[in-house]
Amino acid sequence: MHARENKSPSKTAELVAAARAEHTRATIAPIFEDRYAYAMCGRLWRTILSSRILLLLVKDGLLRNLRPILPAIFTRARFGEDCLEAAMAEGVDQYVIIGAGYDTFAFRRPDLMERLTLYELDQKATQESKLHRMRLAGMEVPKSVRYVQADLTVERLQDALAREGFDFSRPAMISWFGVTYYLDVDTVRTTLTSIARDMAPGTTVVFDYLADAEWVPEEAQPLLTRATAFVARRGEPWLSSFVPPDLPGILASLGYEDIDNLEPDKVEERYFAQYPDLKYAPVIGLCRARTTP
Ligand SMILES: C[S@@+](CC[C@H](N)C(=O)[O-])C[C@H]1O[C@@H](n2cnc3c(N)ncnc32)[C@H](O)[C@@H]1O
Repeated sequence: MHARENKSPSKTAELVAAARAEHTRATIAPIFEDRYAYAMCGRLWRTILSSRILLLLVKDGLLRNLRPILPAIFTRARFGEDCLEAAMAEGVDQYVIIGAGYDTFAFRRPDLMERLTLYELDQKATQESKLHRMRLAGMEVPKSVRYVQADLTVERLQDALAREGFDFSRPAMISWFGVTYYLDVDTVRTTLTSIARDMAPGTTVVFDYLADAEWVPEEAQPLLTRATAFVARRGEPWLSSFVPPDLPGILASLGYEDIDNLEPDKVEERYFAQYPDLKYAPVIGLCRARTTP
């Protein structure tokens, strides 16, 4: 593993909060509703989101290269919460969000929170910024949330969770969205291995992944190239990708079963049937897997 801790709050974490806020405000029946996302944005993004003209200018200007990928942000959040509810129906009561950024689950879903202990893990700067924005918005820290400061390139997941009292004898739900591609392949594998080896059998992990350029259809190649350059310019380069059909084999070899690998070109079919105007760029896949009992 190599150390690459960001000293400033994650810009991409703020961007995804802004994308969730915009989807919630602009869609009559959102795929994923996040009424707290707006409060998690800094002043600049709140100004942009509050002005139709500014928002259009930003979407067509600054975000031009990323725009087709933005629906992946709220779709993965919906996929993750569908999986969480299924895991909770089977008795899971520990929920870990790795790279939580400005995630608002603890506020959005009090109905689920009352049956969960939530561990939100992120690097120090981003987590402190989130807690600061919560204070500014008058959002009190919910009792059953543990905030875990860790950089997964220098500390193992299980060591970070152990510090905050995570119970390794009971299965958990691990959400890992918007993060794997910012880590190198070794770190992704190490984290998946550590979940399979050190957590209780029946633990579920959900994550999204970047499709390998060799798999991405030709028509989406320019988008992949532009989006890759966009995040790299903001100091958070994409470091790993997978060939989507290879993923179930990789996960099985690491100790997972019951794998739902929603390859990038299958997401639209599952989630966008009621939204003819939405398109899902075939670049990011969604995956759920459970550790073998
Ligand atoms: C794009 S944001 C995703 C936020 C959230 N999971 C979501 O889907 O909205 C990526 C998050 O991963 C965190 N992250 C990136 N590298 C990390 C690392 N090495 N250790 C811990 N967190 C990391 C960033 O700080 C950031 O909050």
